[in-house]
Amino acid sequence: MLIIRYVKSTSLYIFANLKKVAQVIQLFKLLMVNLKTPLLKPLLGLFICLLLTSNASFAAADGEALFKDNCSSCHKLDEKLVGPALKDIEKRRDRAWIAKWVRNSSAVIASGDEYAVKLFAEYSKTQMTAFPNLKDEEINAILDYVKTPPKAKPAATANAGAASGSNDDAVYFIALLFIIFLVVYLLLGKINRNLINLVNKDTPDVLDTPIPLYRNFRFIGFLIIVVTIFVGYRAADSSVDMGRSQGYSPDQPIKYSHKLHAGEMKIDCKYCHVGVEKGKQAGIPTVNICMNCHKAVDQATAGTGKEEIQKIRDAYANNKPIEWVRIHNLPDHVYFSHAQHVKAGQIACQTCHGQIQEMEVVAQNQPLSMSWCINCHRETKVQFNTNKYYGMYEDLHKDMKNGKIKGVTEAMMGGLECQKCHY
Ligand code: HEC
Ligand code: HEC
Ligand code: HEC
Ligand code: HEC
Ligand code: HEC
Ligand code: HEC
Repeated sequence: MLIIRYVKSTSLYIFANLKKVAQVIQLFKLLMVNLKTPLLKPLLGLFICLLLTSNASFAAADGEALFKDNCSSCHKLDEKLVGPALKDIEKRRDRAWIAKWVRNSSAVIASGDEYAVKLFAEYSKTQMTAFPNLKDEEINAILDYVKTPPKAKPAATANAGAASGSNDDAVYFIALLFIIFLVVYLLLGKINRNLINLVNKDTPDVLDTPIPLYRNFRFIGFLIIVVTIFVGYRAADSSVDMGRSQGYSPDQPIKYSHKLHAGEMKIDCKYCHVGVEKGKQAGIPTVNICMNCHKAVDQATAGTGKEEIQKIRDAYANNKPIEWVRIHNLPDHVYFSHAQHVKAGQIACQTCHGQIQEMEVVAQNQPLSMSWCINCHRETKVQFNTNKYYGMYEDLHKDMKNGKIKGVTEAMMGGLECQKCHY
């Protein structure tokens, strides 16, 4: 978002100053051709090299990224985690078998494959997530990475990088761009001045007389734009936290972290909130689901993990549920269904719950008031043409075809009627 806004404003700036840009390009040409500066050419070369190498390493990291996104919550390379260490997997199985296994391990086990059945038993019948959508080349990339991981940076920094999230990255990116712009600007200003002094004394019209930076309105304008973007973004960001019952964030009996599980380890929300596409309730996971992994994982690399995980194991041993404190709660007279919104409406969890995958402790992100529901029903255009679910609204489909309406909102399908939301 931010980057897009930034690029937009920058290109607007460039557009508004085409003349200046043309001058700059001219100057660059002049420089490269006539002055044969000893410094700039190597710098330019270095810059291009950097670009190229950064691209190259990006392509190579593919397998690593896929592994981190999909597998690292349960597998390490040279150590048992929830599943076996994968470093030598190709000594045990060939790629065709592995591909079948990764796409659907239950099917391989069900087929009676001896190796698979034994392995499954050995791992206390812990079910591995199925990845039916991974393509051959993606599985191959993962296996290439697993076999010869690039000389690893310490795991800690890799984790910290992942945790710091894209917002921080965006801010750094902008700061960097800004500095580059500033340096280029200063450099060019100086060169501009020198050139005028040296070469062009008799044609002052071609190149404007240089104005000091602090009196250059274009530069000040540019600076103001950048600062505004920064401040505006910060303000918008923090105002999200304000509100009524928004922000409710009680202590939980176990220090369970979505940031760790859903964020860093990228466990799918549906793995734990199993009801979310099927029914009204998303559901809070049972101890069994935690134990799928915590039978094996008794400790976290950092933090207070051990005691907290022991609480899960105690609950499991004593056959007692964990008493999670409920956070989101509509009054009894309101009907709300997750399946309707997540499956039929295809709305992302984050739209209503905020960036859960970045929360150490869950907090209510939206007001859950009647006007909140209604506003969204008025404003959100549903994916009317592509979603089979809406086939039954024939009149609306006709209106769409005739161009009478541009899009269909939930409100047009009766989403503002009292009895839809009230018992
Ligand atoms: C939810 C945890 C989980 C995730 C996520 C997961 N695995 Fe597994 N994996 C297991 C478990 C547990 C086993 C052991 C067999 C069993 O119990 O089903 C296993 C076994 C395997 C095996 C067989 C190992 C052997 O020694 O023969 C391979 C290969 C494998 N996983 C690859 C992957 C890959 C590749 C990914 C990511 C795309 C992945 N797994 C993601 C839990 C997981
Ligand atoms: C490893 C299991 C697990 C995964 C994965 C997971 N959650 Fe949760 N979630 C829980 C548990 C346990 C709770 C109850 C404790 C708490 O509130 O932190 C919970 C609570 C919540 C709540 C608050 C429920 C309330 O009481 O109102 C929301 C909302 C939620 N999760 C959304 C998500 C979303 C969105 C994702 C995916 C980005 C996700 N969860 C992934 C286990 C999980
Ligand atoms: C797919 C596997 C998986 C599932 C399911 C899972 N966890 Fe974890 N959990 C892990 C791993 C792996 C770690 C250790 C991460 C590390 O090395 O820091 C962990 C760490 C933890 C920690 C310690 C965190 C810390 O920072 O000290 C707690 C507490 C925890 N899990 C609670 C839960 C609860 C409660 C559930 C069930 C709602 C659950 N986990 C489900 C894999 C899982
Ligand atoms: C359209 C908004 C919306 C979307 C999208 C949405 N939720 Fe919810 N969620 C709510 C509301 C409202 C409640 C309170 C429901 C109640 O009190 O009956 C809630 C409650 C919950 C709860 C706790 C109570 C329960 O229902 O079990 C969990 C967990 C949860 N959501 C997870 C998720 C996950 C995971 C997703 C995405 C797959 C998701 N939600 C998508 C609005 C939404
Ligand atoms: C982020 C947008 C959004 C929010 C917030 C939202 N909804 Fe919805 N809602 C939708 C969309 C889109 C649909 C259409 C999906 C469908 O057809 O089932 C829908 C459908 C419904 C339906 C089914 C209506 C029908 O025609 O059968 C009900 C009931 C409903 N919402 C209730 C609620 C309640 C109650 C709340 C507030 C607690 C709420 N919604 C908040 C977007 C939203
Ligand atoms: C899209 C869903 C939706 C529709 C449509 C809807 N409501 Fe509501 N209504 C809610 C929600 C959610 C609340 C709970 C708000 C809260 O707890 O602050 C609520 C609360 C109320 C309350 C307040 C009750 C209380 O506990 O304070 C009244 C009265 C009410 N609605 C009447 C109506 C009437 C009359 C209509 C039809 C014109 C209507 N509602 C249509 C979702 C809806």
